[in-house]
Amino acid sequence: MKKLLELITEEFEKAFEKNEYDKKLGKVVVSNRPDLCQYQCNGAMAGAKLYHKAPIMIANQVVESLQDNEMFESVEAVMPGFINIKLNSEFVAKYLNDMKEADKYGCENKEPETIVIDYGGANVAKPLHVGHLRSAVIGESVKRIERFMGNKVISDVHLGDWGLQMGLIITELECRKPDLVYFDESYTGEYPEEAPFTISELEEIYPCASAKSKVDEEFKEKAHQATLKLQSGYAPYTAIWKHIMKVSVEDLKKNYGNLNVDFDLWKGESDAQPYIPGLIQDLIDKKLAYESQGALVVDISKEDDTKELPPCIVRKSDGAALYATSDLATIIQREQDYKPNHYIYVADKRQELHFTQVFRVSKKANIVDENTKMEFLGFGTMNGKDGKPFKTRDGGVMRLESLIAQINKAVYDKIMENRTVSEEEANNTAKIVGLAALKYGDLSNQASKDYIFDIDRFASFEGNTGPYILYTIVRIKSILEKYKAESGNADVNLPVISTDNGSQMQLMLEVAKFNEIIENAAEELAPHKICSYVYDLSNVFNRFYHETKILAEEDQTKKAGYIALINLTINVLEQCIDLLGFSAPDRM
Ligand code: ARG
Repeated sequence: MKKLLELITEEFEKAFEKNEYDKKLGKVVVSNRPDLCQYQCNGAMAGAKLYHKAPIMIANQVVESLQDNEMFESVEAVMPGFINIKLNSEFVAKYLNDMKEADKYGCENKEPETIVIDYGGANVAKPLHVGHLRSAVIGESVKRIERFMGNKVISDVHLGDWGLQMGLIITELECRKPDLVYFDESYTGEYPEEAPFTISELEEIYPCASAKSKVDEEFKEKAHQATLKLQSGYAPYTAIWKHIMKVSVEDLKKNYGNLNVDFDLWKGESDAQPYIPGLIQDLIDKKLAYESQGALVVDISKEDDTKELPPCIVRKSDGAALYATSDLATIIQREQDYKPNHYIYVADKRQELHFTQVFRVSKKANIVDENTKMEFLGFGTMNGKDGKPFKTRDGGVMRLESLIAQINKAVYDKIMENRTVSEEEANNTAKIVGLAALKYGDLSNQASKDYIFDIDRFASFEGNTGPYILYTIVRIKSILEKYKAESGNADVNLPVISTDNGSQMQLMLEVAKFNEIIENAAEELAPHKICSYVYDLSNVFNRFYHETKILAEEDQTKKAGYIALINLTINVLEQCIDLLGFSAPDRM
């Protein structure tokens, strides 16, 4: 479905053309003076230079050609040559009715893609901390947006499951339980089904081992050796590794589940390892990789780079593979499995150089086609109120679980403050609203920016917050419920009709922007644009609500029209928050 702005622009282009001006001048934009008009066209100003005429003369001619056009209530030329536009409310009502019937409320995607989106990126055996929160929250939203737009989207958590942390855990486990069969070199039997640790033990083992390795050289070297042994396929360690994976992944699934985040693939760096030898050989055969100080590297710099980019190291001097090697090998696997035309990686923006290197090597070595899109969506840091990276009160790394618990508590207290719902209901509602507070607090910022985690602000029911959006949705739900009850009409999916109500017109225009906003957010991988849209839409709805008697309206046709409009409003709002990755409760 064409966007409202496109339809208006088309009429203006025709009018410019009719007067023998370049049709490009007909571009229409949303008005920057909403007190004067809804849309404006500034083409006559640019036309003045091209045609050596006073802008107001051009504007007057164009306006004259549009006088009988049914799309507009008024089209006016004002000095020095702007054109102010007001739409006819019947035209907008018809647009909304088309939108209501259209697939995806009129969003279109002319060239659906196959997209692999890599986000989450948790490291196995290390607890999920707030650093991983942003990747999960942003990635999940981008996935939903792209999928909504009709793309085939494959999401992969890409676990960090092949690093030194594994050797550290194995070594620490050996210190603690040397009698386990995994440490008996003469053992030849089957390895036990049951893991020799629980998730809480595992979460305690890792930080302990990591701290030890910083002060104990011998321990560190042992852990390094254990990692190498694991990576070369030593069976007892592989058995321990499998236990670590099973116990951790189960826990990770639960944690991501609490965030309403899920993945199609639970692959990790380990899955890419079989592709590494072939990758290295290929890079050598293609004469892209060469030895430099014992390491194997690939140059990635380009002539038009503004700063110098270091080569990508694909093999260290001790023969070990690196982070970039794993990512390249993973791409080989993804090409075999999905041959995507678009890759999206959601990770901390400090990893930008890494991804630039990986993307360039992929293209240079023809691992992916030249025209495959490879995008890095780098996000900023979540800071505390002191402006420094978010920490617990005693300076430690905040666990995601504790963070969620904190925000739920803040919302719970708010609900209990002035309401009389049962504790159970308050608890359930707090979970739904808490998640919205957390996700909206994050997503409403442009991803690349750092932001300050401020529980009191995020959990507030007023202002640009998740709870405010949910509150608006709940308010509409309640009006619709009342309408259904008193009219005996369960169907609120009615046609929108035009009225002379000014705030209704504002609301109609805002709802009509949906397709434009979503298509743009999908194009730019920008959930924050959906946040600012739902905020504007909520504000416009609340103004309409305060200025209009909806249920008390006596004119039944008018009333049905209002119901139709707020029903479409709530559908659009709920669609948007679903794309952001949260939902609304029935009551708040
Ligand atoms: N595990 C990594 C980390 O915690 C993030 C992984 C990002 N994705 C990727 N394909 N490199 O930093």
